[in-house]
Amino acid sequence: MRVLGIESSCDDTAAAVLDGNVVRSSVRSSQHDLHEEYGGVVPELASRDHQRFIVPVVEAALDEGNTTADALDAVAVTHGPGLPGSLIVGLSFAKALARGLSVPLIGVNHLEGHLYSVALDAPSPSRPYLCLIVSGGHTELVVVEPDLQHTVLGRTRDDAAGEAFDKIAQLFGLGYPGGPAIDRHAADGDPTFHDFPRAQLDNFDFSFSGLKTSVLYHLRDYADAERERLLSEHRADFCASVQTAIVDVLVEAVRRGVAETGAEHVAVVGGVAANSELRRRVTAAGDEDGFDVSVPALSYCMDNGAMIAKAGALRLTRGETSPPTLDVAPQLSLD
Ligand code: KG4
Ligand code: ZN
Repeated sequence: MRVLGIESSCDDTAAAVLDGNVVRSSVRSSQHDLHEEYGGVVPELASRDHQRFIVPVVEAALDEGNTTADALDAVAVTHGPGLPGSLIVGLSFAKALARGLSVPLIGVNHLEGHLYSVALDAPSPSRPYLCLIVSGGHTELVVVEPDLQHTVLGRTRDDAAGEAFDKIAQLFGLGYPGGPAIDRHAADGDPTFHDFPRAQLDNFDFSFSGLKTSVLYHLRDYADAERERLLSEHRADFCASVQTAIVDVLVEAVRRGVAETGAEHVAVVGGVAANSELRRRVTAAGDEDGFDVSVPALSYCMDNGAMIAKAGALRLTRGETSPPTLDVAPQLSLD
């Protein structure tokens, strides 16, 4: 079965061709430069850029996948959650394409795409498994059950983990998105340089806004020139301290989740799963506590079309398709 996956929920226009279990192509056009000067995604600009890129990105995915559109068996597309104007571009395109080709349309929950992204470059962990979704928009701890059911154990009450990385990176004068920059600088830093607060886990609900405020208050105590000097001298130390504060909480949540559910397998997915410290620490926790860990390749951590094709293919196998009247669902959740 050959499925085209289309993703346009935020600032990446992405498409991929999945053939059975094999990703034949995965193409992504990222708008990071477009949004950098604003320090975050500007919805109006994002939807316009999806409009510009959707056709070339899908064409590139077909070309690189060595396939023609009429060899497709289905079109899967993210229909939520995400920015309404961005989702509409991908969904409208997918509907027209599926209609033109007379193949099924499958609307996919973006978060479900992330859940199954661990099965793109390695055999799927056997379900049930515990999955930590950590991205720019989401932080959720989920039990992925057999039969494509999900139980959400907890989620963030305010900022997502990636949002915390991005907002704090801005305070440090790093660009957008800030997560990769913090990761890079932290490699040369001392994680004990400053003891930033660890967010308290309430059941399995996360909160990262306090950390951002704490960084803001800490830096605000210095005069401008002094702050500049401190930041340039200790940028790596600040980055390492913040990164550890975020990763500590995520790893603690995973450990508690394993203890509570008895899960034998943990997956960490989403953009923040690209973080080197998080990957290292979750793997170490698994070695210590006796659970297996799966983390996708970096290109499948970021938003991509292959994970949408994968989730769509799983739904299609169960005979689930979407009507041509399918609408975007900006607030769609896993439960
Ligand atoms: O999954 P994703 O591509 O988009 C969303 O669905 O949000 O995740 C993007 C997020 C951004 O917040 C970015 O800063 C973060 O993932 N990110 C990282 C790293 N690479 C990307 N955060 C920490 N360390 C990284 N290496
Ligand atoms: Zn995402």
